[in-house]
Amino acid sequence: MARTFYVTTPIYYVNDVPHIGHAYTTVAADALARWRRLCGDDVCFATGCDAHGLKIQRAAAERGVDPATWADRTAQAFRDAWALLGITNTDFIITTEERHHRAVQQFLEAVRANGYIELGTYRGPYCVACEAYYTPDELLEGTCPIHRRPVEEVAEENYFFRLSRFTDRLLEHYDAHPEAVAPPGRRNEVLGFIRSGLQDFSISRTSITWGIPIPWDPAHVTYVWFDALVNYCTVAGYGTDPDRFARWWPADVHLIGKDILRFHAVYWPAMLMAADLAPPRQVFAHGFLLVGGEKMSKTRLNQIAPADLVATFGVDGYRWHFLADQRFGPDGDFSYEAMVARYNSDLANGLGNLAARVLNMATSYLAGGAPEHREDGPLAERAAVTGEAVAAAFEALDFAGACFAVQELVRAANAYIEDRRPWERHRDGDATGVAAILGDCLEALRIVALLSSPVIPGTGVELWRRLGLPGTPDDQRVPAAAVWGAGPPVVAPLRKGPSLFPRVEASTAP
Ligand code: ME8
Ligand code: MG
Repeated sequence: MARTFYVTTPIYYVNDVPHIGHAYTTVAADALARWRRLCGDDVCFATGCDAHGLKIQRAAAERGVDPATWADRTAQAFRDAWALLGITNTDFIITTEERHHRAVQQFLEAVRANGYIELGTYRGPYCVACEAYYTPDELLEGTCPIHRRPVEEVAEENYFFRLSRFTDRLLEHYDAHPEAVAPPGRRNEVLGFIRSGLQDFSISRTSITWGIPIPWDPAHVTYVWFDALVNYCTVAGYGTDPDRFARWWPADVHLIGKDILRFHAVYWPAMLMAADLAPPRQVFAHGFLLVGGEKMSKTRLNQIAPADLVATFGVDGYRWHFLADQRFGPDGDFSYEAMVARYNSDLANGLGNLAARVLNMATSYLAGGAPEHREDGPLAERAAVTGEAVAAAFEALDFAGACFAVQELVRAANAYIEDRRPWERHRDGDATGVAAILGDCLEALRIVALLSSPVIPGTGVELWRRLGLPGTPDDQRVPAAAVWGAGPPVVAPLRKGPSLFPRVEASTAP
């Protein structure tokens, strides 16, 4: 039976519309999921939306709709964005779903049965106008950040999760599994936080109604993070399908932004341990995508919608940019100018130009027939190195590294053409020489199409078609299919087609 691979994105809050920050995590998860399928794994790839909590309750109230309607409406904007970007998620969960209610309630019962939930008193600043608690650091000069009115110190009976009991088990877990938080800098952050002493945290509210009731005390609803994290189990079948859950759990990797690292790498594994479930194999936290050096936010009005960029760069131009432009890990600044520059150099002048030259020459010099590659053509060695580098990069979630490795093969093939000048040989009547050079280039293009397909899937499919190959790159299996000469037999004539990546002028900024 195929190996299973379970990858997740955060479930995004429905108080916001999707922007390039959400898409950043989602596109990366998609490239990884596609790569794993090429490797032959059975992949579960989950994304979705987080619908509960006060923020959403308020956003809906402001618009005069009930929160469930509001949640469904915004979740649709996320579904649309992911469809636009070619995201191949196998599930899309909204926390309002019945299956999720069942999972959360079963999870709570399990944690309670093991003695890790207790009733306590939550004290904190409370804004009556908001009917909400704040933490002291959320206040603005001692007043409510929304109403700027004085807050009251109020106490509420809450259920608490006994996180403090898990310090040793978490440290042992991360000691035994150093790869469980990545990149390494994030691991140190997590270890530091655990060592500084863990506090029990409140997991229920009586002042909010929008959420999942605590099963044994329905006057309380479950705190939004406790509810949200359990989504990863819900998708795997927890609470509804034990066989399915046994097959998919634990998740292989939770991809997240660094803003929610503590929830995923401290709270979540402890919650799972408390329910007698295995922690995820890895939590990978990437940095922020900044715009003009600042984090995107509604209030700063610096959010960019994926569709605005797709209009200019196409889906693959979009995906390539965000995966190739900066390492997956540190913060990175987004700029339109840098996106134009990278698109033109990597895709228009790089891969696009290579495909155009090779297919134009092959169709006009060789009467449409695809010549054989040579067993030991000069590009064969480069292609082997590329295949290994791409595999290693995906294994390390180094998407920029995978893109770079593909680029090196593209560059090598373009340089090879410059060096061998097949147009001169054609003029001189050297048909054998021309066929040998172009045969190698066509094989290099096939391998580029295959290895880049997790990042730029549309281009992979189109190149496959133009090369006269059957099916799509998705039907192939690596590493075997990435070997020089291991492609399927050509079934159709070569085709030139329009430019894959028309140049973008810097002045076309939206
Ligand atoms: O935190 N740069 O949802 P959220 C990079 N519902 N990534 C970004 C980004 C940026 N500027 N902005 C957003 C929540 N992201 C919870 C999650 S999971 C059980 C519950 C991405 O809508 C990044 O993945 O605030 C970040 O962690 C996530 O969106 C936060 O999404
Ligand atoms: Mg957020």
